[in-house]
Amino acid sequence: MEKRNLILSFESSCDETSVAVIENGCKVLANIVATQIKSHQRFGGVVPEVASRHHIEIITTCIKDALEEAGVAYDDFDAVAVTYGPGLVGSLLIGVMAAKAVAFAHHLPLIPVNHMAGHIYAARFVDEIKFPALALLVSGGHTELVYLPRENEFQIIGETRDDAAGEAFDKVGRVLGINYPAGKEIDELAHQGKDTFHFPRAMEKEDNFDFSFSGLKSAFINTVHHAEQIGETLDKADLACSFEASVVDVLAEKTIHALKKFPVKQLILAGGVAANQGLRERLDQELKAFPDVQLLKAPLKLCGDNAAMIGAAGYVGYKHGVRAGLDLNADPSLEFDWINE
Ligand code: KG4
Ligand code: ZN
Repeated sequence: MEKRNLILSFESSCDETSVAVIENGCKVLANIVATQIKSHQRFGGVVPEVASRHHIEIITTCIKDALEEAGVAYDDFDAVAVTYGPGLVGSLLIGVMAAKAVAFAHHLPLIPVNHMAGHIYAARFVDEIKFPALALLVSGGHTELVYLPRENEFQIIGETRDDAAGEAFDKVGRVLGINYPAGKEIDELAHQGKDTFHFPRAMEKEDNFDFSFSGLKSAFINTVHHAEQIGETLDKADLACSFEASVVDVLAEKTIHALKKFPVKQLILAGGVAANQGLRERLDQELKAFPDVQLLKAPLKLCGDNAAMIGAAGYVGYKHGVRAGLDLNADPSLEFDWINE
């Protein structure tokens, strides 16, 4: 029997502390996710100092739980993988330090992982990734279209010029009185309403692969404030539906535009906003016009931040000889290269 490769992976870029045990880059033996959402909710967003403090407090428990759940010991591992960016520097550093400590103490190679590559590789738990591929990456901090010409290569072809899609969901949620993070609740509300407000679809028809969501956010906030001033009550479900329809329209249109320009074998949908039902349904529909392109949606449970996806991406880096020394540092603004750079 072929030897199995086991990776211990760490994710702590924002407000989730997560440790996973991944076999051969595609099987989850454990994926412990300690979320801090409750601590940040009263502030309406993530407070960096609070986040790092929580990571420190919980990370060793997460390691212990992951090893226990997977039924493995440190000696069983082939490598340690860790998110080193992008994200909050204080948060990233906790995962990086923990991963380095394990790698040093147990003489294991250390694999640095870009958080966004991790999001893409969440799709690896559904099926093998076939190249070339295109990824629509939509999260709280990022919205980008990424071309993957071959394994372990990521090239940005377009990105948001202002707010990320998830950020827009969260800001609009605040106006609707919905707790942070608001995406899931707005999504549920949207399915009970109609697109009656017809908010703008920024840059939808432009011949590029960039996005913009700040105009939509402003249009939404102005509509709600104006109604408040004249004492009118707007239907929350219709507001949510109209907002989501605009976001989904723009994301879908730009992705289709990219599929026409970049013939690929797969379209990967990943990141926290990839859990959006409206977006998943819309891409299912649109992809019918591309019978040669397989739509690979990250599993719902692995759309948000987690270490399993870091283990899957880390395995690819491991196979390709990507290694970091014990001087690895967090890189809060780490980015993929642009396609023509
Ligand atoms: O990828 P992620 O967990 O964290 C970052 O790396 O940013 O994404 C979190 C974002 C939040 O903005 C949250 O509101 C959004 O994903 N989100 C959703 C849904 N579930 C989570 N947005 C729209 N629809 C959803 N169902
Ligand atoms: Zn993320």
